[in-house]
Amino acid sequence: MQGTPKPARAITVPDFVKAKAEGRRLSVLTAYDHLWASILDEAGIDAILVGDTLGMVVQGRSSTLPVTLDQMIYHGEMVARAAKRALVIVDLPFMSYQVSPRQAVKNAGRILKETGASSVKLEGGEGQAETIAALAKVDIPVMAHIGMRPQSVRKYGRMSAIQRDADQLLKDAKAAADAGAFSIVLELIPQDAAKAITEAVAIPTIGIGAGPHCDGQVLVTPDMMGLTGFKPKFLKAYADLRAAITDATRAYAEDVREGRFPDESHAHK
Ligand code: KIV
Repeated sequence: MQGTPKPARAITVPDFVKAKAEGRRLSVLTAYDHLWASILDEAGIDAILVGDTLGMVVQGRSSTLPVTLDQMIYHGEMVARAAKRALVIVDLPFMSYQVSPRQAVKNAGRILKETGASSVKLEGGEGQAETIAALAKVDIPVMAHIGMRPQSVRKYGRMSAIQRDADQLLKDAKAAADAGAFSIVLELIPQDAAKAITEAVAIPTIGIGAGPHCDGQVLVTPDMMGLTGFKPKFLKAYADLRAAITDATRAYAEDVREGRFPDESHAHK
Protein backbone atom coordinates (compact mmCIF):
# COMPACT_ATOMS: atom_id res chain seq x y z
CA MET A 1 0.00 0.00 0.00
CA GLN A 2 1.39 3.38 -1.03
CA GLY A 3 2.48 5.71 1.75
CA THR A 4 2.29 2.99 4.38
CA PRO A 5 5.47 2.39 6.41
CA LYS A 6 6.45 -1.25 5.78
CA PRO A 7 9.35 -2.58 7.84
CA ALA A 8 10.80 -5.89 6.66
CA ARG A 9 9.70 -7.50 9.92
CA ALA A 10 7.15 -7.21 12.70
CA ILE A 11 7.41 -4.34 15.18
CA THR A 12 8.89 -5.56 18.46
CA VAL A 13 8.70 -4.13 21.97
CA PRO A 14 12.24 -2.65 21.64
CA ASP A 15 11.23 -1.02 18.31
CA PHE A 16 8.18 0.48 20.01
CA VAL A 17 10.27 1.87 22.88
CA LYS A 18 12.99 3.19 20.53
CA ALA A 19 10.41 5.21 18.56
CA LYS A 20 10.33 7.80 21.34
CA ALA A 21 14.10 8.42 21.29
CA GLU A 22 13.95 8.59 17.48
CA GLY A 23 11.08 11.11 17.53
CA ARG A 24 8.60 8.79 15.76
CA ARG A 25 5.00 9.09 17.01
CA LEU A 26 3.15 5.84 17.55
CA SER A 27 -0.33 4.98 16.23
CA VAL A 28 -2.35 2.41 18.15
CA LEU A 29 -5.90 1.12 17.61
CA THR A 30 -7.95 -1.60 19.25
CA ALA A 31 -9.08 -4.81 17.53
CA TYR A 32 -10.91 -7.83 18.84
CA ASP A 33 -10.93 -10.28 15.90
CA HIS A 34 -8.93 -11.52 12.92
CA LEU A 35 -10.80 -9.54 10.25
CA TRP A 36 -10.40 -6.14 11.84
CA ALA A 37 -6.83 -6.83 12.98
CA SER A 38 -5.81 -7.81 9.43
CA ILE A 39 -7.26 -4.56 8.03
CA LEU A 40 -5.53 -2.36 10.63
CA ASP A 41 -2.28 -4.28 10.20
CA GLU A 42 -2.32 -3.98 6.40
CA ALA A 43 -3.04 -0.25 6.75
CA GLY A 44 0.21 0.15 8.69
CA ILE A 45 -0.88 0.75 12.30
CA ASP A 46 2.08 0.48 14.72
CA ALA A 47 0.33 -1.49 17.46
CA ILE A 48 -2.98 -3.24 18.01
CA LEU A 49 -4.45 -3.30 21.50
CA VAL A 50 -6.83 -6.15 22.28
CA GLY A 51 -8.57 -3.98 24.83
CA ASP A 52 -10.99 -5.13 27.47
CA THR A 53 -13.28 -2.50 25.88
CA LEU A 54 -14.44 -5.62 24.11
CA GLY A 55 -16.82 -5.87 27.06
CA MET A 56 -18.62 -2.80 25.73
CA VAL A 57 -18.05 -2.74 21.98
CA VAL A 58 -18.26 -6.49 21.29
CA GLN A 59 -20.28 -7.92 24.19
CA GLY A 60 -22.66 -4.96 24.62
CA ARG A 61 -22.02 -4.59 28.36
CA SER A 62 -21.92 -1.30 30.29
CA SER A 63 -18.35 -1.71 31.61
CA THR A 64 -15.19 -3.77 31.19
CA LEU A 65 -15.63 -5.54 34.54
CA PRO A 66 -17.33 -8.77 33.35
CA VAL A 67 -14.62 -9.59 30.77
CA THR A 68 -12.76 -12.78 31.62
CA LEU A 69 -9.19 -13.92 31.03
CA ASP A 70 -10.38 -16.75 28.78
CA GLN A 71 -12.29 -14.24 26.64
CA MET A 72 -9.20 -12.02 26.32
CA ILE A 73 -7.19 -15.06 25.26
CA TYR A 74 -9.85 -16.11 22.72
CA HIS A 75 -9.88 -12.63 21.11
CA GLY A 76 -6.13 -12.04 21.57
CA GLU A 77 -5.23 -15.21 19.66
CA MET A 78 -7.31 -14.16 16.62
CA VAL A 79 -5.74 -10.71 16.58
CA ALA A 80 -2.15 -11.90 17.09
CA ARG A 81 -2.55 -14.42 14.24
CA ALA A 82 -3.71 -11.63 11.91
CA ALA A 83 -1.01 -9.08 12.82
CA LYS A 84 1.99 -9.54 10.53
CA ARG A 85 3.56 -6.16 11.30
CA ALA A 86 1.88 -4.46 14.26
CA LEU A 87 2.91 -5.03 17.87
CA VAL A 88 0.07 -6.79 19.70
CA ILE A 89 -0.81 -5.88 23.30
CA VAL A 90 -3.51 -7.78 25.21
CA ASP A 91 -5.32 -6.33 28.25
CA LEU A 92 -5.22 -8.18 31.54
CA PRO A 93 -8.91 -8.04 32.52
CA PHE A 94 -10.39 -7.01 35.87
CA MET A 95 -9.28 -9.28 38.73
CA SER A 96 -6.78 -11.22 36.64
CA TYR A 97 -3.81 -9.36 38.22
CA GLN A 98 -5.02 -7.28 41.17
CA VAL A 99 -4.89 -10.18 43.67
CA SER A 100 -1.11 -10.56 43.70
CA PRO A 101 2.01 -10.24 41.50
CA ARG A 102 2.05 -14.04 41.38
CA GLN A 103 -1.48 -14.11 39.93
CA ALA A 104 -0.44 -11.46 37.37
CA VAL A 105 2.63 -13.43 36.25
CA LYS A 106 0.59 -16.63 35.88
CA ASN A 107 -2.18 -14.95 33.86
CA ALA A 108 0.08 -12.74 31.74
CA GLY A 109 2.12 -15.87 31.01
CA ARG A 110 -1.04 -17.59 29.76
CA ILE A 111 -1.74 -14.61 27.48
CA LEU A 112 1.73 -14.72 25.91
CA LYS A 113 1.71 -18.53 25.56
CA GLU A 114 -1.85 -18.97 24.29
CA THR A 115 -2.30 -15.89 22.06
CA GLY A 116 1.13 -15.31 20.51
CA ALA A 117 0.90 -11.61 21.48
CA SER A 118 4.07 -9.77 22.50
CA SER A 119 2.87 -7.94 25.57
CA VAL A 120 0.15 -7.26 28.11
CA LYS A 121 -1.43 -4.13 29.57
CA LEU A 122 -2.66 -3.54 33.10
CA GLU A 123 -4.34 -0.59 34.78
CA GLY A 124 -2.37 1.19 37.49
CA GLY A 125 0.85 3.05 38.23
CA GLU A 126 2.24 3.44 41.75
CA GLY A 127 -0.31 0.96 43.11
CA GLN A 128 0.72 -1.75 40.62
CA ALA A 129 4.49 -1.09 40.67
CA GLU A 130 5.24 -4.37 42.44
CA THR A 131 3.20 -6.30 39.87
CA ILE A 132 4.80 -4.47 36.92
CA ALA A 133 8.22 -5.30 38.39
CA ALA A 134 7.24 -8.98 38.81
CA LEU A 135 6.19 -9.16 35.14
CA ALA A 136 9.33 -7.35 33.98
CA LYS A 137 11.45 -9.73 36.06
CA VAL A 138 10.18 -12.71 34.04
CA ASP A 139 10.51 -10.75 30.77
CA ILE A 140 6.82 -10.24 30.12
CA PRO A 141 6.60 -6.81 28.48
CA VAL A 142 3.94 -4.76 30.24
CA MET A 143 2.23 -1.51 29.30
CA ALA A 144 0.80 0.47 32.23
CA HIS A 145 -2.44 2.48 32.04
CA ILE A 146 -2.92 5.50 34.28
CA GLY A 147 -5.34 8.42 34.59
CA MET A 148 -8.93 7.27 34.15
CA ARG A 149 -8.80 3.52 34.68
CA PRO A 150 -12.01 1.91 33.35
CA GLN A 151 -11.63 -1.10 35.68
CA SER A 152 -12.02 1.35 38.59
CA VAL A 153 -15.39 2.63 37.34
CA ARG A 154 -17.14 1.55 40.55
CA LYS A 155 -14.81 3.89 42.49
CA TYR A 156 -15.21 6.87 40.09
CA GLY A 157 -18.94 6.33 39.59
CA ARG A 158 -18.65 6.98 35.84
CA MET A 159 -16.37 6.22 32.91
CA SER A 160 -15.78 9.83 31.87
CA ALA A 161 -14.14 11.10 35.07
CA ILE A 162 -11.16 13.27 34.04
CA GLN A 163 -8.23 12.67 36.42
CA ARG A 164 -6.67 16.01 37.42
CA ASP A 165 -4.23 15.26 40.27
CA ALA A 166 -1.05 16.14 38.33
CA ASP A 167 1.30 15.16 41.20
CA GLN A 168 -0.25 11.71 41.59
CA LEU A 169 -0.31 11.20 37.80
CA LEU A 170 3.41 11.98 37.60
CA LYS A 171 4.13 9.65 40.54
CA ASP A 172 2.11 6.90 38.81
CA ALA A 173 3.98 7.33 35.53
CA LYS A 174 7.41 7.39 37.16
CA ALA A 175 6.59 4.38 39.33
CA ALA A 176 5.41 2.40 36.28
CA ALA A 177 8.49 3.35 34.27
CA ASP A 178 10.88 2.61 37.17
CA ALA A 179 9.22 -0.76 37.72
CA GLY A 180 9.93 -1.75 34.11
CA ALA A 181 6.83 -0.91 32.05
CA PHE A 182 7.74 -0.46 28.36
CA SER A 183 5.03 2.14 27.72
CA ILE A 184 2.15 3.91 29.48
CA VAL A 185 -1.40 4.70 28.36
CA LEU A 186 -2.57 8.10 29.66
CA GLU A 187 -6.38 8.20 29.66
CA LEU A 188 -8.55 11.29 30.25
CA ILE A 189 -6.04 13.63 31.85
CA PRO A 190 -5.34 17.34 31.23
CA GLN A 191 -2.90 18.00 28.40
CA ASP A 192 -0.40 19.78 30.67
CA ALA A 193 -0.16 16.75 32.92
CA ALA A 194 0.35 14.52 29.87
CA LYS A 195 3.10 16.84 28.60
CA ALA A 196 4.90 16.80 31.97
CA ILE A 197 4.72 12.99 32.13
CA THR A 198 5.88 12.59 28.53
CA GLU A 199 8.90 14.77 29.26
CA ALA A 200 9.66 13.01 32.54
CA VAL A 201 9.74 9.37 31.41
CA ALA A 202 11.95 7.70 28.80
CA ILE A 203 9.25 5.22 27.69
CA PRO A 204 6.51 6.14 25.16
CA THR A 205 3.29 7.66 26.48
CA ILE A 206 0.18 6.72 24.49
CA GLY A 207 -2.71 9.13 25.00
CA ILE A 208 -6.46 8.79 24.81
CA GLY A 209 -8.20 11.97 25.89
CA ALA A 210 -4.79 13.31 27.00
CA GLY A 211 -4.10 15.97 24.36
CA PRO A 212 -1.45 16.35 21.67
CA HIS A 213 1.78 16.08 23.69
CA CYS A 214 2.00 12.30 24.13
CA ASP A 215 4.39 10.09 22.16
CA GLY A 216 1.48 8.28 20.51
CA GLN A 217 -2.27 7.90 20.43
CA VAL A 218 -4.73 5.06 20.93
CA LEU A 219 -8.43 5.04 20.05
CA VAL A 220 -11.13 2.42 20.29
CA THR A 221 -11.57 1.41 16.64
CA PRO A 222 -15.38 1.02 16.59
CA ASP A 223 -15.62 4.57 18.04
CA MET A 224 -13.21 6.22 15.55
CA MET A 225 -14.84 4.37 12.65
CA GLY A 226 -18.26 5.76 13.63
CA LEU A 227 -19.75 2.37 14.49
CA THR A 228 -20.81 2.93 18.09
CA GLY A 229 -22.22 6.46 18.23
CA PHE A 230 -19.89 7.23 21.18
CA LYS A 231 -18.59 10.78 20.55
CA PRO A 232 -16.57 12.20 23.45
CA LYS A 233 -14.64 15.49 23.01
CA PHE A 234 -11.32 13.68 22.53
CA LEU A 235 -12.54 11.49 19.67
CA LYS A 236 -12.08 12.21 15.98
CA ALA A 237 -14.38 10.11 13.82
CA TYR A 238 -12.54 9.04 10.66
CA ALA A 239 -15.48 7.26 9.04
CA ASP A 240 -19.22 6.80 9.40
CA LEU A 241 -19.36 3.04 9.05
CA ARG A 242 -22.61 2.62 10.98
CA ALA A 243 -24.42 4.72 8.36
CA ALA A 244 -22.62 2.95 5.49
CA ILE A 245 -23.47 -0.51 6.87
CA THR A 246 -27.07 0.49 7.62
CA ASP A 247 -27.51 1.80 4.05
CA ALA A 248 -25.94 -1.33 2.55
CA THR A 249 -28.11 -3.61 4.70
CA ARG A 250 -31.29 -1.72 3.74
CA ALA A 251 -30.36 -1.81 0.04
CA TYR A 252 -29.68 -5.56 0.21
CA ALA A 253 -32.91 -6.33 2.08
CA GLU A 254 -34.88 -4.22 -0.39
CA ASP A 255 -33.24 -5.91 -3.42
CA VAL A 256 -34.00 -9.38 -2.02
CA ARG A 257 -37.61 -8.48 -1.19
CA GLU A 258 -38.18 -6.92 -4.62
CA GLY A 259 -36.50 -9.79 -6.50
CA ARG A 260 -33.69 -7.58 -7.84
CA PHE A 261 -30.98 -9.72 -6.24
CA PRO A 262 -29.85 -12.30 -7.13
CA ASP A 263 -30.42 -11.89 -10.86
CA GLU A 264 -29.19 -13.81 -13.93
CA SER A 265 -25.69 -12.33 -13.61
CA HIS A 266 -25.24 -13.98 -10.19
CA ALA A 267 -26.55 -17.39 -11.32
CA HIS A 268 -24.48 -20.49 -12.24
CA LYS A 269 -25.16 -21.87 -15.73
O1 KIV B 1 -9.51 -1.47 26.67
C1 KIV B 1 -9.16 -0.56 25.90
O2 KIV B 1 -9.56 -0.50 24.73
C2 KIV B 1 -8.25 0.45 26.41
C3 KIV B 1 -8.06 1.69 25.60
C4 KIV B 1 -9.22 2.59 25.82
C5 KIV B 1 -6.77 2.35 25.91
O3 KIV B 1 -7.71 0.29 27.45
